[in-house]
Amino acid sequence: MTIHYKTPDELVIMREAGRIVAVAHQAMRDAIRPGVTTGELNKLADTVLRDHGATPAFLGYPKHNSPDYPASICASVNEELVHGIPGKRALKEGDIISIDIGSVYQGFVGDSAWTYAVGEVQPAVQRLLEVSEQALWVGIQASVMPHETRDVAMAIQQHVEKHGYSVVREYTGHGVGRKMHEEPQVPNWWPRGRRQRQNWVSYTLRPGMTYALEPMVNAGRPEVRELSDKWTVATRDRSLCTHFEHTIAITAGEPLILTVP
Ligand code: MF3
Ligand code: CO
Repeated sequence: MTIHYKTPDELVIMREAGRIVAVAHQAMRDAIRPGVTTGELNKLADTVLRDHGATPAFLGYPKHNSPDYPASICASVNEELVHGIPGKRALKEGDIISIDIGSVYQGFVGDSAWTYAVGEVQPAVQRLLEVSEQALWVGIQASVMPHETRDVAMAIQQHVEKHGYSVVREYTGHGVGRKMHEEPQVPNWWPRGRRQRQNWVSYTLRPGMTYALEPMVNAGRPEVRELSDKWTVATRDRSLCTHFEHTIAITAGEPLILTVP
């Protein structure tokens, strides 16, 4: 178990890595409209990252028994949750799209995802977006000393379930630094049963810890499955789902949000 605590100098670089991701997200927000393809969004984000001296963290990312990740962003539409591969698919009015962007800048990673509405969406969909974005903010607010990762997880889960949605179990937030995935894991839920919790570790938050919080919320059942492209993950019941993620740094006071402009 090795948590890499960042020095103030390293945090300055991570802040820039995060800022670049945020600028790419601004470009996504501006470009998302009916008719645009996920491949076009990928190209745009890739250009923004490189124009700012960063490289895309996801491109070529390895995964056991799958091809290396073939694009610079993940673009997951409607019932697709994460790791959707951009391509020829054109967005339609009323869709939602989760865009996940990772940068590497001077050796450090920034990682942030957001779910966007395409044009006007139904009120129930707008509600799903609002509650799941709030779940991220609840997790950020809970990311203060002397809390542990369990407190963050429980706060997120409670918020989501209180509103009648479900938290995806299979994926967690994660430490971020020179590598995209470092310790600690930061789950979005916490098992209630003693037996279920057996191998779960809760980490005490300390200044210099940097992690990505990324609640994944399903409108329906929590179960997900991987599609035949070996990357895209979608809800089993084909319900809509969301993904909101920021990379943050723990301090003696409020956490710093690294992936903002
Ligand atoms: N934000 C995602 C994560 O933290 C992005 C990974 S996509 C991959 O796992 F292609 F790089 F795997
Ligand atoms: Co992440």
